[in-house]
Amino acid sequence: MVVKALKWVGEVDGFLELVDQRLLPGGFVKLECRDTEQLYEAIKTLAVRGAPAIGVSAAYGLVLGMQSLKSSESIEQGLQVLGESCEYLASARPTAVNLFWAIDRVRRKAEKFAAEKTEAGLVALRELVLAEAHAICAEDVEMCLRIGLNGEKFIRDGFHILTHCNAGALATAGQGTALSPMFEAHKKGRKFKVYADETRPLLQGARLTAWELQQAGIDATVICDNMAGWLMKQGEINAVITGADRIAANGDTANKIGTYSLSILAREHNIPFYIAAPSSTFDLSIKSGAEIPIEQRAADEVRNFAGTQTAPDGIDVFNPAFDVTEARDITAIITESGVIENPNIDNVAEHLGT
Ligand code: MRU
Repeated sequence: MVVKALKWVGEVDGFLELVDQRLLPGGFVKLECRDTEQLYEAIKTLAVRGAPAIGVSAAYGLVLGMQSLKSSESIEQGLQVLGESCEYLASARPTAVNLFWAIDRVRRKAEKFAAEKTEAGLVALRELVLAEAHAICAEDVEMCLRIGLNGEKFIRDGFHILTHCNAGALATAGQGTALSPMFEAHKKGRKFKVYADETRPLLQGARLTAWELQQAGIDATVICDNMAGWLMKQGEINAVITGADRIAANGDTANKIGTYSLSILAREHNIPFYIAAPSSTFDLSIKSGAEIPIEQRAADEVRNFAGTQTAPDGIDVFNPAFDVTEARDITAIITESGVIENPNIDNVAEHLGT
């Protein structure tokens, strides 16, 4: 049984319960988000993280935003408050498109409802927003499972797989994206080993991926990020599988900083490089990865390591949270509806049915 990263507790007046990922693996602590400010902070500081998980959380965050409304207020006032929460939560992080996708989906559903059901009141609108958030959450669980089923064939007996950052259950509402094929291959009794890149600066690989794989009983080894190339050179890696934060129309893929370097190393060593992601991670409004906004994070994340200062005060720091892997270096993208081999603008559009 994989960990559940998030759960809505109660009805429209309920709250969002998150596993506080800042504290793992040392502490397994649940965080209760009872307003949008708390959730914004949780997303910004990576208490909840991973593209699908922040999308689902934000959808629930819109339910939280509407809790400030009084029952005497109109449906128009409800839409106004919803719109403000949408803008606010969308500003928490810029790269993962699932955040904007989930927020837009709830907002459009609410606006359509208000336009069509003119006799409906605020209570019905709030219930609709919660129902849509639940639908997004349930679909994410299903998409994760399907990615696992579509991707497990790439993990053969005896394989050594390399992954980067965390694209497991903690990063989604379900059993993850990149880790999902691993969970499915493991269920089938296949024996394989996973190398988890530590993933500096915030160590999602060492802290979260290694923890999830260990909990699942999958053979896992943590390496520092700069060891991947040498492992490949030794013939130790059979495939690389990572998640994605945003995939452009041509298949270019943003994921955690360091993914791009792995794709170049994989090409050099003739190792297949897979991206595992749901359709909610595709952004067909942008032609290529050059248009993906890359989040820049605080310098102190690099100047410190696990609470210890490791670089001089005031030293300049470059800290982009993501990079873009070019479609030509991606062997295939594994989605809930199948596999896109050698992704390009045509087969991505065909796969997504657009
Ligand atoms: O900064 P993070 O931890 O949110 O970055 C997460 C990643 O880069 C994941 O690989 C990506 O969101 C896919 S999660 C299924």
